[in-house]
Amino acid sequence: MIELILRKAGPEDLLAVMDIENSSFEHPWPANCLLPELSDGKINYSLIAEIDGKVAGYLMTWRVVDEFHIINVAVAPDFRRIGVASAFLGALVDEARLSGINSMTLEVREGNSGARKFYERHHFKEVGVRPKYYRDSGEDALIMTRSVDE
Ligand SMILES: CC(C)(COP(=O)(O)OP(=O)(O)OC[C@H]1O[C@@H](n2cnc3c(N)ncnc32)[C@H](O)[C@@H]1OP(=O)(O)O)[C@@H](O)C(=O)NCCC(=O)NCCS
Repeated sequence: MIELILRKAGPEDLLAVMDIENSSFEHPWPANCLLPELSDGKINYSLIAEIDGKVAGYLMTWRVVDEFHIINVAVAPDFRRIGVASAFLGALVDEARLSGINSMTLEVREGNSGARKFYERHHFKEVGVRPKYYRDSGEDALIMTRSVDE
């Protein structure tokens, strides 16, 4: 039985987060983009998942008025498909209810079929497209959203 712990992220998680980022994305964010997201603040709300004491994934969000904007989420390849990202969404829903946030929004690459399936499984719906949103590849972004009380 694995032990999954979710906790707030901090700057000390940078190296572990970079490892997962680099093994999860073709165009990973550099350290100087990841670091500012690893602190708790008025806008930032970021979580780390630990399994058996090892960083297994991260969720980075911004509070934007009455919405959580999911800006980055990744789970280390060895820990995928065991519910880590689903646990993040559960924790985000709990935090949203505590802080009067009504919806969750994100952008996902059109070609990221695994992530799209994950979000659909969690009741996110496509509500728009940002054409050529990703400057690295020119890929479109799909905007997906759901209400907290879905
Ligand atoms: C997308 C991602 C965060 C999902 O994390 P995860 O912890 O593996 O997800 P969960 O185990 O909670 O998945 C729950 C369900 O989502 C769906 N799902 C998740 N990953 C999927 C995939 N690659 N393909 C199809 N469905 C998937 C399934 O329905 C899954 O349930 P099942 O395993 O019983 O079939 C992870 O695959 C990842 O880190 N990918 C690389 C980074 C990335 O693309 N991030 C999203 C950027 S927008």
